[in-house]
Amino acid sequence: MDDLTQHLSTRAFGRAHEHHVSLGSTNDRAAAWLREGGPHGLVVTADTQTAGRGRKGRVWSSPPGHNLYVSLGLRVGSARRDLSALGLVVGLGIYEGLGPIEGLGLKWPNDLLIGERKLAGILCESRWAEDVEVVVGFGINLRRDGIDPAVAGRAVALEEVGVSEGRGVILAALLAALERRLDVFLMTGFEEHRDAYLAANVQIGHRVRVDAGTETFEGVAEAIDDAGALVVETDIGTRVVHAADVTRAR
Ligand code: BTN
Repeated sequence: MDDLTQHLSTRAFGRAHEHHVSLGSTNDRAAAWLREGGPHGLVVTADTQTAGRGRKGRVWSSPPGHNLYVSLGLRVGSARRDLSALGLVVGLGIYEGLGPIEGLGLKWPNDLLIGERKLAGILCESRWAEDVEVVVGFGINLRRDGIDPAVAGRAVALEEVGVSEGRGVILAALLAALERRLDVFLMTGFEEHRDAYLAANVQIGHRVRVDAGTETFEGVAEAIDDAGALVVETDIGTRVVHAADVTRAR
């Protein structure tokens, strides 16, 4: 990832960058660096992770050299506390940074799909100190041979849609798009990003199945509210979903 700096067009994101051959989790290293006083916009990358993690404590398989494993550290002023839609806006930034790709879309809350297969996942974690220290972690499949055989049928890599640039070039484009979106989001909230998010989302207007852990139901995904929650119209009324796995209903 030596070439990241030469491709960067950002003000802050990626200007402080650590690359590791191997880490437990880039999210953990980014959180530690923030705790040690690291700057807003710091970026940690790794060739491989030995304890990569996803949402809900799932394992994020992270074999060496084939994919992007990235954590971005943000310092958010204590006045700006409502970060509930952050993951959605991160998804939107990555979607825009990848550029036009046939079939690329966002799945609420913050997965990126090509068609029905998963390309990338996002894990945001935060700690409240003097300011709020936020780690935005994302993993993107670059190469088919870097995909865990256990999820091979449900996952897709960028090389399969003809994207073959190196990791530094791709990451520089992602950081530029993320900085554009997050600078505004951290000042003003979700409203300004809603239309772009809705246009990129593949579920809005469709019948979905919501698995909220304790219950499962179906309905039509109608909207996203100010807190980034998914508004689902069911046969027995409106449900506002804050955390769940949501798939298209068959
Ligand atoms: C998900 O889809 O469940 C989120 C996956 C997030 C994976 C990335 S890879 C870089 C960063 N470090 C981690 O341990 N997880 C995130």
